[in-house]
Amino acid sequence: MKNKFGALALCLLTIGTVRAEDAPTPAQVFEKRILPIFKSPNPSSCTQCHLAAVDLKNYILPSHEKTFLSLRDQGLIDLDNPEKSKILQLIQMGESDKSPAALINAKVRQTEYEAFAEWIKSGARDPKLRNAPKLEPSERAAPKRPVEVIRHDREDRLLESFTNTVWAMRFRCMGCHTEGSVENQKYVKEFGDRVAWMKADGPEATLSYLRSSKLINVNDPEMSTLLRKPLGAVKHGGGVKFAPGDQGYKAFREFIDDYAKTVRDQYAKADDLPNRDGPERFGTDAWLKISNTPPAWADRLVQVNVYAWDANKSDWRTEPIASTDRVVWGKGKLWQHSLTLLAAKGSEQAKAWDAGKPALPGGKYLVKVYMESKGRPAKDWKAVLGPDDYAGQTELESSWPEGYGKMTEVDAAKVRK
Ligand code: HEC
Ligand code: HEC
Repeated sequence: MKNKFGALALCLLTIGTVRAEDAPTPAQVFEKRILPIFKSPNPSSCTQCHLAAVDLKNYILPSHEKTFLSLRDQGLIDLDNPEKSKILQLIQMGESDKSPAALINAKVRQTEYEAFAEWIKSGARDPKLRNAPKLEPSERAAPKRPVEVIRHDREDRLLESFTNTVWAMRFRCMGCHTEGSVENQKYVKEFGDRVAWMKADGPEATLSYLRSSKLINVNDPEMSTLLRKPLGAVKHGGGVKFAPGDQGYKAFREFIDDYAKTVRDQYAKADDLPNRDGPERFGTDAWLKISNTPPAWADRLVQVNVYAWDANKSDWRTEPIASTDRVVWGKGKLWQHSLTLLAAKGSEQAKAWDAGKPALPGGKYLVKVYMESKGRPAKDWKAVLGPDDYAGQTELESSWPEGYGKMTEVDAAKVRK
């Protein structure tokens, strides 16, 4: 009995040894499977979600040994459970995503995964690699960008930014530009499908269309047609829809600038990233109208902030719940525009408006009016109206019905300092 088992053990041992000897060495696997990924001009599977700042190639060095040690020293290889290595988890990140982009990427990802899995397994068996001394940190291969930038430069973050900027301001354009609307069909007949750039499927589809169009100029964001048309800087079938530096322009410009910097990998450090502390914005079709505007306001940019009543404090809230701005129609003594609702990031209010239809509850509100008197936003699009521009305030009661034909109206005579 004893002998029999001994012979069996010996036999298994022999098979094992033969197999290990026959198996390609880590260096051979690296040469055959990892180097082609490193040298390939094609994008890695990471680009499905990471627009810039990180790529699988960032983790590879020309030498197989150094690549292994670099990953090992960064904790991306698990020597005892190679299949649980963190680098494999990064490659697998796209696995749960079932979008069309992910499915296109699936083959690339599988090739990367199998290559790394085989190479890591063979390296983890090699005592020389396992026990080699640590590399100098400067010798490691890792993304150059800090983690804040890696987090920022993602597809899902870009969509979030788009939703809070361009999409929140869509009511300034959607009447004519939403694919399939009555107005839009009329314009499509005259000018072609390009007028339907705002997609009926929502922000993601619109963003994806805009990215594939020529309307955004990533090399010179300010010159983007998406800004120049509504500014009236080039002929626009819809007329002038932006004043330089108004809320619509600011939101579109913020998005385009950020998008351009992201895809061009121009954020080097966390401090370069745009400040996103402002409130979340939600577009609505609730309109406010100020009639009989005084001559001093004629053809100037007027901004209105709307404040809700805080019953607990028995006072107006300190932060506006809505805002909008537009140039006054001097000849008609009229100012009117649709409201953009505002809620602190991550607040209960923001969550509710995210999940349902953003709307203001009926009740009493304070309206503060600001009139741009110094032409600053035209010179510096980032300039905001402040206390210097304060033109007065008034209270009103409204249920904020939606639609161009159902505006909440105030007489400018009631707006007092
Ligand atoms: C399906 C989308 C997707 C794919 C594909 C993807 N990632 Fe990620 N990645 C994410 C998300 C989302 C996060 C944030 C994860 C979190 O916070 O838990 C992230 C985080 C990271 C981080 C960590 C940064 C941090 O927030 O701490 C690194 C590094 C990273 N990914 C690298 C890669 C590499 C390398 C690839 C390709 C091999 C890749 N990713 C593929 C979506 C993806
Ligand atoms: C009253 C209708 C109307 C409104 C409102 C309107 N537009 Fe237009 N827009 C048009 C028409 C008509 C065209 C096609 C003729 C042209 O190119 O100027 C057009 C064309 C465009 C184009 C060129 C599309 C392409 O692919 O060639 C852009 C970009 C654009 N508009 C942006 C905007 C933005 C941004 C807004 C909102 C801030 C807006 N428009 C509001 C009517 C409108």
